[in-house]
Amino acid sequence: MAKKIAVLPGDGIGPEIVAAARVVLDRVAALDSLELEYREALVGGAAYEASGSPLPEETLRICDDADAIFFGAVGGPQWEGLPPEQQPERGALLPLRKRYNLYVNIRPVLVYPSLVDASPLKKERLNVDGGGVDFVIMRELTGGLYFGQPKSIDREAGEALDTLRYNVTEIERIARTAFETARVRRKKVCSVDKANVLSSGILWRETVNRLHSSEYKDIELSHLYVDNASMQLILNPGQFDVILTENTFGDILSDEAATLPGSIGLLASASLNDTGFGLFEPCHGSGNYPPSIAGLNVANPVAQILSAAMMLRYALGCEGSARKIEAAVTKAITAGKFTRELGGSLSTAEVGQAVADLLA
Ligand code: IPM
Ligand code: MN
Repeated sequence: MAKKIAVLPGDGIGPEIVAAARVVLDRVAALDSLELEYREALVGGAAYEASGSPLPEETLRICDDADAIFFGAVGGPQWEGLPPEQQPERGALLPLRKRYNLYVNIRPVLVYPSLVDASPLKKERLNVDGGGVDFVIMRELTGGLYFGQPKSIDREAGEALDTLRYNVTEIERIARTAFETARVRRKKVCSVDKANVLSSGILWRETVNRLHSSEYKDIELSHLYVDNASMQLILNPGQFDVILTENTFGDILSDEAATLPGSIGLLASASLNDTGFGLFEPCHGSGNYPPSIAGLNVANPVAQILSAAMMLRYALGCEGSARKIEAAVTKAITAGKFTRELGGSLSTAEVGQAVADLLA
């Protein structure tokens, strides 16, 4: 049976990088005899311009009916002044995460050995002789400050409110995913919280500890406060295997971690629920803010291409095809076939073509 993919390119560089990733997906589908059926839909600012809503009914219908959502990026300065529910991020991306209960967000961070010189860190910080930098951020995605109620802003009173709320069930299910992930990696979980200040941090730590001692004693568990974790990511990123953390901390730490490989354009993500359904998108945004790189065919499509690999792995059950894409990306990078922010000379479309040609 054909796998149905809802394709939501969105705004800014979204359409360009999604097009490049489609070339790779089509090629791997031909190689591995996969039947992929794409249904494209508008989202974000592009959808708002066309229909007055950043997440139109038609888009939701296509997503409801799909096996996976392949998402580009949304947002741009032209939509910042809109009421919150019409903004691309608040009105489209966050509701999609909530609608499908996508509480697991997986963000792999890998420093490619051939790109150590592109990293802003000194080589001696990148653990080159000890296995390099290769970890996964496991971010809780549907709770915490992002979604906690009540939430309000009263400009007249000059006051705003966000709520950081977590319950044990929410903490336990993401912690379980982190432990399971560590089991098939290097068997280490570092849980990041702010238990020295926040009540939610105390519950977080107690819950992670309880689950660890009851079911995951084979995994080495450590804890860091988020401020210290942000420092450790720069001082010694090679120490991490799986970083488990709550929504807001995960957002911030993943942008910080994205600097390590030399470009945020290399970082993919998977957002999953319990049914195997997921949304797959780069960790970066729409490239639409000044100086905008949208429409110039210079954006790095690798994060989008690697998100396609994650989609094949986690939502479509095609592990072999996912690995082929990852291997082709590594080959392209090793051969110097990348975009200009990494010191290369290829365009967005050319990188897509190069990766497709390296599939084997
Ligand atoms: C991310 C993004 C989103 C987030 C924004 C666009 C709402 O920064 O996926 O990291 O904060 O989660
Ligand atoms: Mn972010």
